[in-house]
Amino acid sequence: MKAAEIFDLKGRVALVTGASGGLGLRFAEVLAANGASVALVARRADRLAEAKVRIEKAGGKAIAIEADVLDRAQMNRAFDQAEKALGTVTILVNNAGVAHSTRATDLSEDEWRHVVGTNLDAVFFWAQEAARRMLAANKKGSIINIASVLGISVSKGTVAYAAAKAAVIQMTKTLGLELAFKGVRVNAIAPGWFVTDINREYLSGPGASLTRDIPIGRFGQDGDLDGALLLLASDAGGYMAGTTVVCDGGQVVAIRG
Ligand SMILES: NC(=O)c1ccc[n+]([C@@H]2O[C@H](COP(=O)([O-])OP(=O)(O)OC[C@H]3O[C@@H](n4cnc5c(N)ncnc54)[C@H](OP(=O)(O)O)[C@@H]3O)[C@@H](O)[C@H]2O)c1
Repeated sequence: MKAAEIFDLKGRVALVTGASGGLGLRFAEVLAANGASVALVARRADRLAEAKVRIEKAGGKAIAIEADVLDRAQMNRAFDQAEKALGTVTILVNNAGVAHSTRATDLSEDEWRHVVGTNLDAVFFWAQEAARRMLAANKKGSIINIASVLGISVSKGTVAYAAAKAAVIQMTKTLGLELAFKGVRVNAIAPGWFVTDINREYLSGPGASLTRDIPIGRFGQDGDLDGALLLLASDAGGYMAGTTVVCDGGQVVAIRG
C-alpha cells in the first residue's frame, strides 16, 4: 500500500472545532490538503472566513460556521449546516479549548466551569452528536479529541485544565470501547507544548526555558501533529480505537536531568 493511498481522505467530511487559529487551523488545512471537505467552526467569524479562503486557494474545500462549542443549539446548527453543505460529518476534530494559569486556591467557580465546560463537557457533547449522526447515516468515521500532556502529567496553575484533559483521555477510551464495533473510531492526540495564542505569553517569556525538559530540545511546531492527525483520521489508523497518541518531543517520559 502506498502512503498517499492509505492516508487519502477524498470523499470524507471533516468538522474541526477551534479552527480559527492555532492547532485547529493547521488541522483543518492538513485535512483539506489530503482530500477532505472541511467545516471550520469557532466563534471568530472573520478568522474563519480567512481560513476558508486560505484552504480554497490551496485547492481544498471548506465552509465557515460561527458557533460557540458551549452552546448546544449552536452545535446542532453547526452539524446541520455542515451536513447540508458537505454531507454527513465522518471526521470530527474536537479541538476547541481554553487554558488558565490560576492556582487552585485562587480559582473561581466561574473559571473552573468555563475551562471544564469547554475542554471536557463540550468535547463530549460534540463527540456524542457526531457519533449519533454517523450511526444514523450508517457511516463509518473517526473522532479525534485533542487532549494534552497535561492530561498525563501536571504543572502548577493548571488544575481545571489538567483535570479536564485527563478526563478527555478516559472519555476517549470509553467512547472508543462503545463505538468501535459500530464503525466509529474514537481516539485522542495529546500534544506537548506548541506556541499558540493559548500560551504565547508564557512560552515566549517565563516558560521559554521549558525546552530544557523536552528531549527533542524544542517546542512543537507546524507539522509536528500532521502525522498523528492523518493516522487517526484515515484508514491508516483503521485498527486504532480508544487510544491517545502522545506528540510531545518526549516530554512526558523524561525525568529532568
Ligand atoms: N498549544 C499547546 O501547547 C497545546 C498543548 C496541548 C493541547 N493543546 C490543545 O489544543 C487545542 C487547540 O489549542 P491551541 O493551542 O490551538 O489554542 P488557541 O490558538 O488559543 O486556539 C483555541 C481555539 O479554540 C477556539 N475556542 C475556544 N473556546 C471556544 C468556544 N467556546 N467555542 C468555539 N471555539 C472556541 C478558539 O476560537 P474562537 O476564539 O474564534 O472561538 C480557537 O480557535 C486545545 O484543546 C488545547 O487545549 C494545546
